[in-house]
Amino acid sequence: MIRQAIIPLAGLGTRLLPLTSVFAKELLPMNGKVGIEYILDECIDAGIKEVVFIISKNKMMIKDYFYKDSFYKKIIKKKGDKRIISAYRKILKYKKMIKFVYQNKPLGTGDAVLKTKKFIKDKYFLMLLPDDLIIKKNCSKDMIRISKKNKCSVMASMKVKKNNVSRWGIYSVSKRLNKDNFFIKDVIEKPTIKNAPSTNAVIGRYILPKKIFSKLKNLKPGQGGEIHITDAIKKLINGGHKIIGHKFRGKYLDCGSMSGYVKSGIEIAKL
Ligand code: G1P
Repeated sequence: MIRQAIIPLAGLGTRLLPLTSVFAKELLPMNGKVGIEYILDECIDAGIKEVVFIISKNKMMIKDYFYKDSFYKKIIKKKGDKRIISAYRKILKYKKMIKFVYQNKPLGTGDAVLKTKKFIKDKYFLMLLPDDLIIKKNCSKDMIRISKKNKCSVMASMKVKKNNVSRWGIYSVSKRLNKDNFFIKDVIEKPTIKNAPSTNAVIGRYILPKKIFSKLKNLKPGQGGEIHITDAIKKLINGGHKIIGHKFRGKYLDCGSMSGYVKSGIEIAKL
């Protein structure tokens, strides 16, 4: 069973400046709902019971959003407004399932994952990257089903344009399982067009095994000087661990860039 999820939230959000100069990008609203709540709702619907947020001291605002509830209590006592009561109930529901760890230096996604080691109990856990929103179909739910059936790791994936490969983790396929699922032979973080083994990109949903922590422990910084989860995954594959690339059915929205963020709000409003 996959019951735990982790969400790296320590990123600086520079691609969204000036919106993020004093504000956490994950708290920016889209169509009247805070971005991170879309990710949490995906988790809840996929059966996740506990979510570990990896934040930094610059992102304490995220903890406040879910934990500082004296304000709600006061207003509700005074006004008893139904809408506020239901908003507060939702926040309380999230609060119950969230734990926090800290990554104060931006050393990369791999380093962020390593910070959650003491919380992870089961053989597999889910990781969601909050810049990547997938709507219309619950990608995490589908991946959990695939992981359970095949007893292995899964990464969400989609085809990208060849001239865009250096923005993503790119993988090559060893064997096709069916129309939407492939066993991964190798994965490279942000390769040049010349070095890219394909145009299959990794998107921010991963089902990872607990044993990835031992690979992360001694991992050296890679592309761009950061410690990448992709490099730990590569080590797992080399050690014989099976990983499926899952071509998800939903629609991908990039909330981490300004144009993507604006477009995401419009797409969500159409739902
Ligand atoms: C991260 C991963 C990359 C993956 C991407 C998906 O990159 O390192 O392999 O393709 O997420 O969004 P980042 O977006 O943090 O640069």
